[in-house]
Amino acid sequence: MNQDELKQAVAKKAIDYILPKLESDSIVGVGTGSTANYFIDYLAEIKGHFDGTVASSEGSAERLKQHGIPVYDLNSVDSVVVYVDGADETNPQRELIKGGGAALTREKIVAAVADEFVCIADGSKWVEILGGFPLPVEVIPMARAHVGRELLKLGGNPVYRQGVVTDNGNEIIDVHGLAITDAKQMEQDINQIVGVVTNGLFAARPADVLLLGKESGVVQI
Ligand code: A5P
Repeated sequence: MNQDELKQAVAKKAIDYILPKLESDSIVGVGTGSTANYFIDYLAEIKGHFDGTVASSEGSAERLKQHGIPVYDLNSVDSVVVYVDGADETNPQRELIKGGGAALTREKIVAAVADEFVCIADGSKWVEILGGFPLPVEVIPMARAHVGRELLKLGGNPVYRQGVVTDNGNEIIDVHGLAITDAKQMEQDINQIVGVVTNGLFAARPADVLLLGKESGVVQI
């Protein structure tokens, strides 16, 4: 199987995983990226089994609507039964790096609200130590240079993601060269920098379940 087929396989498995948990009034949280897009396409096939969704990006909201799936404002729903999203890296503790698609802030918000966070990832995302994938940090535009200097002090090499504006009107710095052995601490340290909106480490709230696509099949971790 190629990487795309592995993404499809985990997206399909996520449907099997969430289906028994859904009720007619359930709200499903939907992530962003190519794996999440496959999930959206499969979700359309079980439309009658839940009420609607909240989306972690304008792009995902658009795709959901194209399928005729209702998309609600997060502020208008009481709860989110499950959040399903991809990742750029995951370690065995299900701590993640996310934000390759620049949607990290809304992703972290929906994950925080959801009763359960199911991460779907192809096997290439599995690492022992996070940081091989540059860590995305969303910043308020006027603070970009300041945040960059502070990230240097933390041992990373910050690179401005040129031409990208997030759904929230902010900018992204990708931090290269970090070997993240204590993801919770690093997440906290970066959050302390004034001007940072969110960083792409999901360690304080890791995934509850990881569906990892391997050649031999989908493994639940
Ligand atoms: C979006 O901002 C990211 O967090 C994605 O979840 C992540 O980049 C995974 O993307 P793919 O599913 O396209 O690999």
